[in-house]
Amino acid sequence: MAELINVADYQKLARERLHAHAFDYYASGANDGMTLRETRRAYDRIELAYRVLVDVATRDQQTQVLGTAIDTPLFVSPTAFHKMAHPDGELATVRAAGAAGTIMVLSSLSNTDVEAVVAAASGPVWFQLYVYRDREATAALVQRAVDAGCEAIVLTVDAPQLGQREADVRNRFHLPTGLSVKNMLPAGYGAVGETPQESGLAAYFASLIDPSLNWSDIAWLRSLSSLPLLIKGIVRADDARRAVQAGAEGIVVSNHGGRQLDTSIATIDALGPIARAVGEEIEVLVDGGIRRGTDIVKALALGAKAVGIGRPVLWGLAVDGEGGVAGVLALLRRELDLAMALCGAPNLAALTPDLLVGVVDRL
Ligand code: FNR
Ligand code: LAC
Repeated sequence: MAELINVADYQKLARERLHAHAFDYYASGANDGMTLRETRRAYDRIELAYRVLVDVATRDQQTQVLGTAIDTPLFVSPTAFHKMAHPDGELATVRAAGAAGTIMVLSSLSNTDVEAVVAAASGPVWFQLYVYRDREATAALVQRAVDAGCEAIVLTVDAPQLGQREADVRNRFHLPTGLSVKNMLPAGYGAVGETPQESGLAAYFASLIDPSLNWSDIAWLRSLSSLPLLIKGIVRADDARRAVQAGAEGIVVSNHGGRQLDTSIATIDALGPIARAVGEEIEVLVDGGIRRGTDIVKALALGAKAVGIGRPVLWGLAVDGEGGVAGVLALLRRELDLAMALCGAPNLAALTPDLLVGVVDRL
């Protein structure tokens, strides 16, 4: 196997191994891919003003999110359809996340039943929720996640409809034979089939996911379970404030990896003002474009408690199943360790905004 030193190496090999339609689905951003690119590039524009002569002989990545201890400030962001990458699918991912001492957020749109995923887990599993027009089926889905042993609900709010991923339109994206939205088979919503002139997944969203979802529905959602609730897809401080008022325990600052509204704000640019507004009251997490240990340093310095990893996990899965996901998480962990050493930060509390050139002035 080629030498896999960084996330880009995994992506390159994954591209060789995956069916082109699967690679396109995983890799795509919406429309021109502006937000996809800028969410990554915004990290590169931030320079680090590192400290010297700090004792960094031991470095500690331990932290807590929602009271759960994790060994590294990384978690697996929810991504759909892991069996398109590897036959072990979500089971491989959850095993690797547990072995890395962190959380997997399981997508509503998994190819594996939530019960099976939690049974294979050695670490916490959080359940990402899409709210269907069929509220009874949605409530049943939440109940299954609760009964299975998921430890939080992550409500995704940036996808009232699916963004237009043009490669998926051209490919008439649909699930390969034998794969389904496994958790929704009992409700009759398991199939993502071929649709004329459009992505089958966009058609699935348009017909089944509830675009009327709004702030007043959060109380209903809370009534379904006593699990902590995180709201994912927030990029504005006023929405973060509404999430606090609605009783959420946390938010994920996210633009869905640039797959929804093209030209929307890079998450690292959205993070600072949001963390300042609500960071003392609720848990603030972020995802999108994290490919290097220094990206993690910057997100934590701007107030995120932990960062979510989307596509790199899928590249690891495509390359070598559980071992590949473990490889990706380990390399990011190592890069973070080195970046902390070189920044003069022996622990995560030492990742403060003064490490970022020009940012303190803007806060
Ligand atoms: C996603 N994302 C996503 N989010 C969510 O809440 N539910 C989902 O089912 C999915 N599915 C999904 C599939 C694929 C292929 C991708 C790439 C992304 C968004 C995901 O949770 C996360 O916000 C981004 O992937 C983060 O960006 P990076 O790390 O991929 O750059
Ligand atoms: C996606 C959906 C499933 O980004 O969240 O493809």
